[in-house]
Amino acid sequence: MSKKKYYVTTPIYYPSGNLHLGHTYCTVAADAIARYKRVQGYDVKFLTGTDEHGMKIEEVAKKKGLKPKEYLDGIIKTVKELWKTLDISYDYYIRTTDEKHKEIVQTIFQKLYDKGEIYKGTYEGHYCTPCEAFWTESQLEDGKCPDCGREVILAKEEAYFFKLSKYQDRLMKLYEENPEFLEPASRRNEMLNNFLKPGLEDLCVTRSTFDWGVKVPFDDKHVIYVWIDALSNYITALGYSTENDEEYNKFWPANVHLVGKEIVRFHAIIWPAILMALDLPLPKKIFGHGWILFENDKMSKSKGNVMYSEPIIKLYGIDALKYFLLREFPFGSDGSFAREKFLKRVNSDLANDLGNLVSRTVAMVQKYNDGIMPQPSVNGEYDDELKDLAVSTPNIVEKNMDEFNFSVALENVWKLISRTNKYIDETMPWVLAKDEAQKGRLDTVLYNLCETLRIISVLIRPIMEKTSLSIQRQLGIDNAEITNWESTKQWGRLDGGIKVNKEAPLFPRLDIEKELERLSIENQKFFELKNGVKQETKEAEEIEDYITIDDFDKIDLKIAEVIEIEKHPKADKLLVLQLSVGEEKRQVVSGISKYYTPEDLIGKKVILVANLKPIKLRGIESHGMILAASKGKKLTLATVLEDIKSGAKVN
Ligand code: ME8
Ligand code: MG
Repeated sequence: MSKKKYYVTTPIYYPSGNLHLGHTYCTVAADAIARYKRVQGYDVKFLTGTDEHGMKIEEVAKKKGLKPKEYLDGIIKTVKELWKTLDISYDYYIRTTDEKHKEIVQTIFQKLYDKGEIYKGTYEGHYCTPCEAFWTESQLEDGKCPDCGREVILAKEEAYFFKLSKYQDRLMKLYEENPEFLEPASRRNEMLNNFLKPGLEDLCVTRSTFDWGVKVPFDDKHVIYVWIDALSNYITALGYSTENDEEYNKFWPANVHLVGKEIVRFHAIIWPAILMALDLPLPKKIFGHGWILFENDKMSKSKGNVMYSEPIIKLYGIDALKYFLLREFPFGSDGSFAREKFLKRVNSDLANDLGNLVSRTVAMVQKYNDGIMPQPSVNGEYDDELKDLAVSTPNIVEKNMDEFNFSVALENVWKLISRTNKYIDETMPWVLAKDEAQKGRLDTVLYNLCETLRIISVLIRPIMEKTSLSIQRQLGIDNAEITNWESTKQWGRLDGGIKVNKEAPLFPRLDIEKELERLSIENQKFFELKNGVKQETKEAEEIEDYITIDDFDKIDLKIAEVIEIEKHPKADKLLVLQLSVGEEKRQVVSGISKYYTPEDLIGKKVILVANLKPIKLRGIESHGMILAASKGKKLTLATVLEDIKSGAKVN
């Protein structure tokens, strides 16, 4: 019997800069769905990629003094690295600059033209001459070019049009007959009321004002404009209309295209119309998700409020980020990545609820049963309630995952986690352990905890792979039959007698105040690294550029007198200085032999950082550091204007 198939896609991203947290949202969700379907035994195809044509890319490359392809190859490497950092399990990465893609796009264009679905006409719009760009009325800002702010003129150019208007009725019917085609329902209403009911116009599908794109096969003055090029990726990636079209036959139509709300119109109106025109089956579902705001504001580089995934992952791990993104807000709504909310959730849900449950359970098996998971023996109060919830939760999770309700799915897993923590408080294993006669009861309690954790570990696997596998390792489970999806619906699959292994805490508790600062600093650093400039948020400046008087007070600066100097026996650059600091003697190794001879310095007063941790430099202990100013090749030791006794404090 052949396996059930599942095809899920993300949009293809514009690589005009580094992808931020908002871009990773859809990919994280698509990854969760792909992993969920794989664990259910489906043959999964998960597609992502980049949308690499158009004027914008051409311009970004030019600004950097690169050819578009050169620029793109560099930035695509960073995109792929990001997906690796996030452990995104895509099966295929499509670039619209791939030769195969470009050829198929031309074939599609030719087919549509031959069928009379595309015709030549005139495009009228507001034209910015210096930018060589057409803008629609609504794109203009104060009647001027949105890119450069200069005057625009009304202009006409020859262009090709797709007969979109022709598909209005069929699209209305599609929405009526298949309400599940576009979700959530709010987006469906928006499409119906704002676009379909007022009436569709034919769509201009070529441009002749820029070059960077796929040429119209029979008229190379024209470039195929982004939407036919970009949307087609979902079938060109499968080899549609080539000799190697097995994947197309196997996976098309897609089960779901996940897309952000601002591109729903392209996916739910233009794309199905193009497919209808080609006589191809339509995707089963378009799901339009919301936006991730940053501290309640739309992320934008020019506003200086961009949050990246990399710093979050560096500090707290992939699982914490994925959990928060999919747990905090419904997938269809906008949500805000507020740092404090994130950190609090990591503490409460991950460190406290899940992390503690795992470490307490494993620790108790170690302490009360020599690290061997017992077999259940004596049943008691609370057992049935726990078991019932444990085996009914998987069905609820499944239903919600299938409907892209990630947050409700996770909420239900956490209800089970809380119930399990409560079970520990109710059964009090530490009391049972004191009474030999209660051994059978204790065995059952410990077993029930482990068995519930087994079920939990499988349920969180699509979203939190690392955590899931760590729980399974800690429980000593390496049997695929009790870690597949179906096994979560059966109680008692775990066999006692296996050895548990404690690992480091899954999620260490965080000091929120401290972490707020660390996270901001890491994000700033990343922004600077990627953009070569500082992100201009006030709050960040405060954190990064200033220290408080308390910070300064931590540094103990003292006047020291140089008593003796020798060359370091093993390093030419270093001198070994003996200093007197008030009553105290100090040895400091300093890299100044290029600038001073011993005679220059004997009897001089220098400034010592007295409370620096001692270290060994090429085998010789150095306790403290002396201050010097340097610029280019010049270096001079810092000292005081007038004489003062050694040991004096500098502040
Ligand atoms: O639109 N929160 O590319 P794109 C959530 N190339 N999602 C966000 C987001 C945020 N803050 N910012 C961006 C394109 N996105 C086209 C797609 S598909 C055939 C062509 C999402 O890089 C956005 O909603 O501008 C969209 O779904 C995706 O990132 C790509 O956006
Ligand atoms: Mg966009």
